[in-house]
Amino acid sequence: MPDKTFLVHVKVENRQVRKKLEEIIKSDPGLRVQAFEKTRRPDLVIYELGDDTEGDFQVLQSLMNSDALGEVFLTSDRTDSQLLLKAMRMGVKEFLLQPLNEQEVRQALAGFKVRSGQSVRTVAAERGKVISVMGSKGGVGTTTVAVNLAVSLAESKAKQSIALVDLNAVVGEIPLFLAVRPSYHWGEIMQNIGRLDSAFLMNIMVRHGSGLYVLPSPSKLNGYPVATPDTMQRVLNVLRDMFDVVVIDGGQSMESAHLKVIEMSDTLLIVSILSLPCLHNTHNLLRSLKGLSILPQDRIRVVINRHLKKSDVSISEAEESIKQEIFWSIPNDYKATMSAINQGKPLSKVGRKAPVTRSLTEMANCLVGEDREDTTKRTKRFRWH
Ligand SMILES: Nc1ncnc2c1ncn2[C@@H]1O[C@H](COP(=O)(O)OP(=O)(O)O)[C@@H](O)[C@H]1O
Ligand SMILES: [Mg+2]
Repeated sequence: MPDKTFLVHVKVENRQVRKKLEEIIKSDPGLRVQAFEKTRRPDLVIYELGDDTEGDFQVLQSLMNSDALGEVFLTSDRTDSQLLLKAMRMGVKEFLLQPLNEQEVRQALAGFKVRSGQSVRTVAAERGKVISVMGSKGGVGTTTVAVNLAVSLAESKAKQSIALVDLNAVVGEIPLFLAVRPSYHWGEIMQNIGRLDSAFLMNIMVRHGSGLYVLPSPSKLNGYPVATPDTMQRVLNVLRDMFDVVVIDGGQSMESAHLKVIEMSDTLLIVSILSLPCLHNTHNLLRSLKGLSILPQDRIRVVINRHLKKSDVSISEAEESIKQEIFWSIPNDYKATMSAINQGKPLSKVGRKAPVTRSLTEMANCLVGEDREDTTKRTKRFRWH
């Protein structure tokens, strides 16, 4: 049984449309059809626009102002952009075009339920943890670390819900690493920021076989608004309510929207390799982050990737040069990482026992295990798998 049943009032004159809507609502155990005049405040009203749209809008506006109802969906056989704009400005959440498309109606209702349930859930549930991964240089393995860390978490016994966000504008490679085919991207989010909620994000994210959900990067920038710190914050806040852990592949960007992500991170992993130029960059990056004071020092962890035991620079020399402890070192394994990329599979599928895979899994456990106590206590938000 659902924890709560939402009352939906269907204020629709057209008999066929009303019948169809009522059927759909009745088939959903979380929803109940309610007569308008009766008792409790409806949680949702589906309102059909008549010939007097001005009058209809006035009635709706006063009802919405008086808090006499929860959300409003409009339905009509007319799609007039002025009308839609006015409805959206008033706070109408969905517009259901007639003849109705059942799948669209169900999707809109699912979104309503998620939004309405959220206020109850977020009080009880702790917010998800944000782990950002950024490279001190291109090609050091940032995407490899982010992807395999996220897959490791998704495949772990803790059964947490995991999101993986690709912030690399234009050249996001996560879909290639995981052989997933996104149909949407960030541009769509930015264009529809007013509709941003968990149901909307779920439509945009792609599920990977490991149970992980991927939010792909902008594949084409043409004409789409770019992410700003404000939109980024909003997206991340919704994701934190939806998932236990949000892993972010931040690439090397230091743009303002990415700085917002860093600021909101519980852990920032800086990926470096044991080469002098790269360590030099890492040191500079650490200094800039310190200067910006956007996140406490203890949240920043340096990870050495492609570690060779016989390297010219030792871990302790590296620590000395960057003036910070190295949190983790991941062994070099060109064959496994390349074959994973070429097959579009995570390392756990191409070399489960390889030291590089084990190291990444252990790092994942270490990162979330630090607050394992809390995670088991969590009632947790939605189970997407
Ligand atoms: N631990 C590793 N050992 C050997 N090669 C690695 C390792 N991690 C990543 N690579 C290789 O480095 C290259 C760049 O990796 P990628 O994750 O795309 O880096 P970035 O996102 O920083 O550009 C890839 O060819 C990948 O196979
Ligand atoms: Mg990359």
